Amino acid sequence: MGSLRVLASDGMNKTAVQELTKKGYDVVEQFYAPEELGEQLRNFDALVIRSATKVRKPIIDKAAEAGRLKIVIRAGVGIDNVDVEYAQSKGIIVKNTPNASTNSVAELVIGSLFSLARFVYDANQTMHEGKWEKKRYEGIEIAGKTLGVAGMGRIGRSVAKKAAALGMSVVYTDIVGHLPENEPFKFMSLDEVLASSDFITLHMGGADKPVLDAENFAKIKRGAFLINAARGSLIDEAALLAALESGQLAAAALDVFAEEPCKNEKIYTHPKILLTPHIGASTVEAQSRIGDELVQIITGCFA
Ligand code: MLT
Repeated sequence: MGSLRVLASDGMNKTAVQELTKKGYDVVEQFYAPEELGEQLRNFDALVIRSATKVRKPIIDKAAEAGRLKIVIRAGVGIDNVDVEYAQSKGIIVKNTPNASTNSVAELVIGSLFSLARFVYDANQTMHEGKWEKKRYEGIEIAGKTLGVAGMGRIGRSVAKKAAALGMSVVYTDIVGHLPENEPFKFMSLDEVLASSDFITLHMGGADKPVLDAENFAKIKRGAFLINAARGSLIDEAALLAALESGQLAAAALDVFAEEPCKNEKIYTHPKILLTPHIGASTVEAQSRIGDELVQIITGCFA
Protein backbone atom coordinates (compact mmCIF):
# COMPACT_ATOMS: atom_id res chain seq x y z
CA MET A 1 0.00 0.00 0.00
CA GLY A 2 1.27 3.56 -0.77
CA SER A 3 1.66 6.24 1.89
CA LEU A 4 -1.27 7.67 3.77
CA ARG A 5 -2.36 10.91 2.14
CA VAL A 6 -3.41 14.06 3.97
CA LEU A 7 -5.08 16.97 2.20
CA ALA A 8 -4.63 20.30 4.03
CA SER A 9 -7.02 22.41 2.01
CA ASP A 10 -6.61 25.63 4.02
CA GLY A 11 -2.87 25.18 4.64
CA MET A 12 -1.09 23.63 7.61
CA ASN A 13 1.59 24.64 10.10
CA LYS A 14 5.04 23.97 8.54
CA THR A 15 6.38 21.97 11.48
CA ALA A 16 3.30 19.74 11.41
CA VAL A 17 3.80 19.14 7.68
CA GLN A 18 7.46 18.27 8.32
CA GLU A 19 6.56 15.97 11.24
CA LEU A 20 3.96 14.10 9.22
CA THR A 21 6.24 13.86 6.18
CA LYS A 22 9.01 12.44 8.41
CA LYS A 23 6.55 9.82 9.60
CA GLY A 24 5.85 8.82 6.00
CA TYR A 25 2.60 10.70 5.30
CA ASP A 26 2.11 12.44 1.98
CA VAL A 27 0.79 15.91 2.85
CA VAL A 28 -0.73 18.01 0.07
CA GLU A 29 -1.50 21.69 0.76
CA GLN A 30 -4.02 22.67 -1.88
CA PHE A 31 -7.38 24.47 -1.82
CA TYR A 32 -10.09 22.99 -4.03
CA ALA A 33 -13.40 24.63 -4.97
CA PRO A 34 -16.43 22.83 -3.44
CA GLU A 35 -17.36 21.29 -6.84
CA GLU A 36 -13.92 19.69 -7.03
CA LEU A 37 -13.22 18.80 -3.41
CA GLY A 38 -15.45 15.70 -3.22
CA GLU A 39 -13.77 14.20 -6.28
CA GLN A 40 -10.28 14.93 -4.89
CA LEU A 41 -11.13 13.31 -1.57
CA ARG A 42 -11.34 9.95 -3.32
CA ASN A 43 -7.54 10.02 -3.13
CA PHE A 44 -6.99 11.10 0.48
CA ASP A 45 -7.14 9.38 3.87
CA ALA A 46 -7.41 12.55 5.95
CA LEU A 47 -8.66 16.08 5.36
CA VAL A 48 -7.45 19.04 7.44
CA ILE A 49 -9.39 22.31 7.16
CA ARG A 50 -9.60 25.77 8.75
CA SER A 51 -12.62 27.99 8.10
CA ALA A 52 -12.48 28.49 4.33
CA THR A 53 -13.26 24.89 3.31
CA LYS A 54 -16.85 23.78 3.85
CA VAL A 55 -17.45 20.05 4.12
CA ARG A 56 -21.12 19.69 3.24
CA LYS A 57 -23.25 16.65 2.37
CA PRO A 58 -22.46 16.38 -1.39
CA ILE A 59 -18.72 16.43 -0.64
CA ILE A 60 -19.14 13.85 2.12
CA ASP A 61 -21.22 11.66 -0.24
CA LYS A 62 -18.47 11.63 -2.87
CA ALA A 63 -15.77 10.86 -0.31
CA ALA A 64 -17.87 8.15 1.34
CA GLU A 65 -18.65 6.57 -2.04
CA ALA A 66 -14.93 6.12 -2.69
CA GLY A 67 -14.48 4.89 0.88
CA ARG A 68 -10.93 6.15 1.44
CA LEU A 69 -11.41 9.24 3.62
CA LYS A 70 -11.26 8.24 7.27
CA ILE A 71 -11.08 11.55 9.13
CA VAL A 72 -11.83 15.27 8.78
CA ILE A 73 -9.99 17.53 11.22
CA ARG A 74 -10.99 21.11 11.79
CA ALA A 75 -7.77 22.92 12.76
CA GLY A 76 -9.61 25.22 15.14
CA VAL A 77 -12.56 25.39 17.49
CA GLY A 78 -15.77 25.96 15.51
CA ILE A 79 -16.90 22.96 13.53
CA ASP A 80 -19.86 24.69 11.88
CA ASN A 81 -18.27 24.36 8.42
CA VAL A 82 -18.62 20.57 8.57
CA ASP A 83 -21.87 18.55 8.46
CA VAL A 84 -20.60 16.61 11.45
CA GLU A 85 -23.46 14.18 12.07
CA TYR A 86 -23.78 13.38 8.39
CA ALA A 87 -20.06 12.67 8.07
CA GLN A 88 -20.19 10.46 11.16
CA SER A 89 -23.22 8.60 9.77
CA LYS A 90 -21.04 7.74 6.75
CA GLY A 91 -18.28 6.41 9.00
CA ILE A 92 -16.02 9.46 8.72
CA ILE A 93 -14.48 10.66 12.00
CA VAL A 94 -14.66 14.41 12.69
CA LYS A 95 -12.29 16.11 15.15
CA ASN A 96 -11.29 19.63 16.07
CA THR A 97 -8.58 21.28 18.20
CA PRO A 98 -10.69 23.02 20.86
CA ASN A 99 -8.00 24.27 23.24
CA ALA A 100 -5.10 25.42 21.12
CA SER A 101 -6.30 28.90 20.12
CA THR A 102 -8.10 30.02 23.30
CA ASN A 103 -5.45 32.47 24.47
CA SER A 104 -4.83 33.94 21.01
CA VAL A 105 -8.51 34.71 20.43
CA ALA A 106 -8.82 36.15 23.95
CA GLU A 107 -5.79 38.41 23.37
CA LEU A 108 -7.28 39.71 20.10
CA VAL A 109 -10.49 40.54 21.99
CA ILE A 110 -8.57 42.44 24.67
CA GLY A 111 -6.59 44.26 21.95
CA SER A 112 -9.86 45.21 20.25
CA LEU A 113 -11.27 46.45 23.55
CA PHE A 114 -8.36 48.87 24.02
CA SER A 115 -8.46 49.90 20.38
CA LEU A 116 -12.17 50.75 20.57
CA ALA A 117 -11.85 52.59 23.90
CA ARG A 118 -9.00 54.78 22.63
CA PHE A 119 -9.94 55.12 18.92
CA VAL A 120 -6.65 53.47 17.91
CA TYR A 121 -8.20 52.10 14.72
CA ASP A 122 -9.59 55.45 13.63
CA ALA A 123 -6.64 57.60 14.76
CA ASN A 124 -4.28 55.31 12.83
CA GLN A 125 -6.41 55.67 9.71
CA THR A 126 -6.64 59.49 9.86
CA MET A 127 -2.91 59.89 10.58
CA HIS A 128 -2.20 57.77 7.50
CA GLU A 129 -4.33 60.32 5.66
CA GLY A 130 -1.94 63.07 6.87
CA LYS A 131 -4.32 64.44 9.57
CA TRP A 132 -3.52 65.38 13.20
CA GLU A 133 -6.85 65.17 15.05
CA LYS A 134 -5.75 65.10 18.67
CA LYS A 135 -8.95 66.70 20.00
CA ARG A 136 -11.16 64.15 18.24
CA TYR A 137 -9.75 61.19 20.11
CA GLU A 138 -10.66 61.54 23.74
CA GLY A 139 -11.21 57.94 24.74
CA ILE A 140 -12.28 56.17 27.91
CA GLU A 141 -10.45 53.89 30.32
CA ILE A 142 -11.56 50.29 30.41
CA ALA A 143 -10.78 49.92 34.14
CA GLY A 144 -14.00 50.32 36.12
CA LYS A 145 -16.20 49.51 33.12
CA THR A 146 -18.44 46.46 32.77
CA LEU A 147 -17.64 43.76 30.24
CA GLY A 148 -20.52 41.49 29.21
CA VAL A 149 -19.43 38.09 27.94
CA ALA A 150 -22.05 36.21 25.92
CA GLY A 151 -20.90 32.58 25.88
CA MET A 152 -18.72 31.47 28.78
CA GLY A 153 -16.78 28.57 27.29
CA ARG A 154 -12.99 28.38 27.19
CA ILE A 155 -12.50 31.60 25.20
CA GLY A 156 -15.18 33.58 27.05
CA ARG A 157 -13.60 32.57 30.36
CA SER A 158 -10.12 33.50 29.20
CA VAL A 159 -11.34 36.96 28.10
CA ALA A 160 -13.21 37.38 31.41
CA LYS A 161 -10.08 36.63 33.47
CA LYS A 162 -7.90 39.03 31.46
CA ALA A 163 -10.55 41.77 31.64
CA ALA A 164 -10.92 41.33 35.40
CA ALA A 165 -7.13 41.61 35.79
CA LEU A 166 -7.39 44.95 33.95
CA GLY A 167 -9.92 46.23 36.49
CA MET A 168 -13.16 45.56 34.62
CA SER A 169 -16.31 44.13 36.22
CA VAL A 170 -17.36 41.04 34.29
CA VAL A 171 -20.91 39.78 33.84
CA TYR A 172 -21.83 36.88 31.60
CA THR A 173 -24.54 34.77 30.10
CA ASP A 174 -24.41 31.20 28.82
CA ILE A 175 -26.91 28.60 27.62
CA VAL A 176 -25.80 26.18 30.33
CA GLY A 177 -26.47 28.77 33.03
CA HIS A 178 -24.23 29.41 35.99
CA LEU A 179 -21.28 27.04 36.45
CA PRO A 180 -18.91 27.00 39.44
CA GLU A 181 -15.88 27.28 37.12
CA ASN A 182 -17.22 30.65 35.97
CA GLU A 183 -16.80 32.18 39.44
CA PRO A 184 -16.28 34.98 40.41
CA PHE A 185 -18.10 36.44 37.43
CA LYS A 186 -21.77 37.33 37.69
CA PHE A 187 -24.28 35.23 35.72
CA MET A 188 -27.20 37.11 34.11
CA SER A 189 -29.77 36.66 31.35
CA LEU A 190 -28.75 37.86 27.88
CA ASP A 191 -31.12 40.83 28.22
CA GLU A 192 -29.47 41.85 31.50
CA VAL A 193 -25.99 41.51 30.02
CA LEU A 194 -26.99 43.68 27.06
CA ALA A 195 -28.56 46.31 29.30
CA SER A 196 -25.72 46.56 31.80
CA SER A 197 -22.47 46.22 29.80
CA ASP A 198 -20.23 49.00 28.54
CA PHE A 199 -18.48 46.48 26.31
CA ILE A 200 -20.06 43.28 24.98
CA THR A 201 -18.05 40.38 23.58
CA LEU A 202 -19.60 37.36 21.85
CA HIS A 203 -18.22 33.86 22.41
CA MET A 204 -21.01 31.58 21.25
CA GLY A 205 -20.95 29.02 18.45
CA GLY A 206 -22.43 29.80 15.02
CA ALA A 207 -26.22 30.33 14.98
CA ASP A 208 -28.97 29.70 12.41
CA LYS A 209 -30.61 32.94 13.53
CA PRO A 210 -28.59 35.99 14.68
CA VAL A 211 -28.42 36.49 18.46
CA LEU A 212 -28.00 40.21 17.96
CA ASP A 213 -30.93 41.25 15.76
CA ALA A 214 -32.74 44.62 15.73
CA GLU A 215 -34.77 43.66 18.81
CA ASN A 216 -31.69 42.76 20.85
CA PHE A 217 -29.64 45.73 19.65
CA ALA A 218 -32.40 47.91 21.13
CA LYS A 219 -31.75 46.30 24.55
CA ILE A 220 -28.06 47.26 24.58
CA LYS A 221 -26.98 50.03 26.94
CA ARG A 222 -26.81 53.17 24.80
CA GLY A 223 -23.25 53.97 23.68
CA ALA A 224 -21.82 50.50 24.40
CA PHE A 225 -19.08 48.86 22.33
CA LEU A 226 -19.42 45.44 20.68
CA ILE A 227 -16.75 42.87 19.83
CA ASN A 228 -17.31 39.73 17.76
CA ALA A 229 -14.43 37.30 17.30
CA ALA A 230 -16.70 34.23 17.38
CA ARG A 231 -18.96 33.78 14.34
CA GLY A 232 -20.44 36.24 11.85
CA SER A 233 -23.81 34.49 11.98
CA LEU A 234 -24.31 35.79 15.54
CA ILE A 235 -24.98 39.32 14.27
CA ASP A 236 -27.56 40.70 11.86
CA GLU A 237 -25.24 43.06 9.96
CA ALA A 238 -28.07 45.38 8.82
CA ALA A 239 -29.20 45.76 12.44
CA LEU A 240 -25.60 46.41 13.50
CA LEU A 241 -25.27 49.21 10.93
CA ALA A 242 -28.53 50.74 12.15
CA ALA A 243 -27.36 50.57 15.77
CA LEU A 244 -24.11 52.35 14.84
CA GLU A 245 -25.98 55.02 12.87
CA SER A 246 -28.42 55.73 15.72
CA GLY A 247 -25.66 55.87 18.36
CA GLN A 248 -27.11 52.87 20.21
CA LEU A 249 -23.66 51.36 19.70
CA ALA A 250 -20.57 53.59 19.91
CA ALA A 251 -18.39 51.32 17.77
CA ALA A 252 -17.77 47.67 16.99
CA ALA A 253 -14.81 45.39 16.38
CA LEU A 254 -15.44 42.51 13.99
CA ASP A 255 -13.09 39.64 13.27
CA VAL A 256 -15.83 37.48 11.75
CA PHE A 257 -18.54 38.21 9.19
CA ALA A 258 -21.84 36.86 7.87
CA GLU A 259 -19.98 36.11 4.65
CA GLU A 260 -16.21 35.55 4.51
CA PRO A 261 -14.30 37.16 2.92
CA CYS A 262 -16.58 40.10 3.86
CA LYS A 263 -18.28 41.52 0.78
CA ASN A 264 -20.69 43.83 2.60
CA GLU A 265 -19.33 47.24 1.56
CA LYS A 266 -21.36 49.05 4.23
CA ILE A 267 -19.53 46.98 6.82
CA TYR A 268 -16.00 47.09 5.46
CA THR A 269 -16.08 50.85 4.80
CA HIS A 270 -17.83 51.85 8.03
CA PRO A 271 -15.76 54.35 10.06
CA LYS A 272 -17.02 52.99 13.39
CA ILE A 273 -16.05 49.38 12.75
CA LEU A 274 -12.61 48.04 13.56
CA LEU A 275 -12.02 45.22 11.09
CA THR A 276 -9.75 42.19 11.13
CA PRO A 277 -9.98 39.30 8.64
CA HIS A 278 -10.82 36.35 10.97
CA ILE A 279 -7.38 36.32 12.60
CA GLY A 280 -8.38 35.30 16.15
CA ALA A 281 -6.34 32.11 15.96
CA SER A 282 -3.68 33.47 13.64
CA THR A 283 -0.68 33.58 15.94
CA VAL A 284 2.58 31.67 15.77
CA GLU A 285 1.79 30.07 19.13
CA ALA A 286 -1.79 28.99 18.36
CA GLN A 287 -0.86 27.60 14.97
CA SER A 288 2.06 25.71 16.43
CA ARG A 289 -0.16 24.20 19.18
CA ILE A 290 -2.78 23.35 16.53
CA GLY A 291 -0.04 21.74 14.42
CA ASP A 292 1.08 19.57 17.37
CA GLU A 293 -2.53 18.49 17.96
CA LEU A 294 -3.03 17.69 14.27
CA VAL A 295 0.02 15.41 14.25
CA GLN A 296 -1.27 13.63 17.37
CA ILE A 297 -4.77 13.21 15.96
CA ILE A 298 -3.61 11.96 12.56
CA THR A 299 -0.97 9.56 13.85
CA GLY A 300 -3.42 8.32 16.51
CA CYS A 301 -6.10 7.73 13.89
CA PHE A 302 -3.83 5.67 11.63
CA ALA A 303 -1.82 3.91 14.36
C1 MLT B 1 -11.88 28.67 15.07
O1 MLT B 1 -13.04 28.23 15.09
O2 MLT B 1 -10.97 28.06 15.63
C2 MLT B 1 -11.57 29.96 14.40
O3 MLT B 1 -12.60 30.46 13.68
C3 MLT B 1 -10.20 30.07 13.84
C4 MLT B 1 -9.94 29.95 12.38
O4 MLT B 1 -10.43 29.09 11.71
O5 MLT B 1 -9.17 30.75 11.85
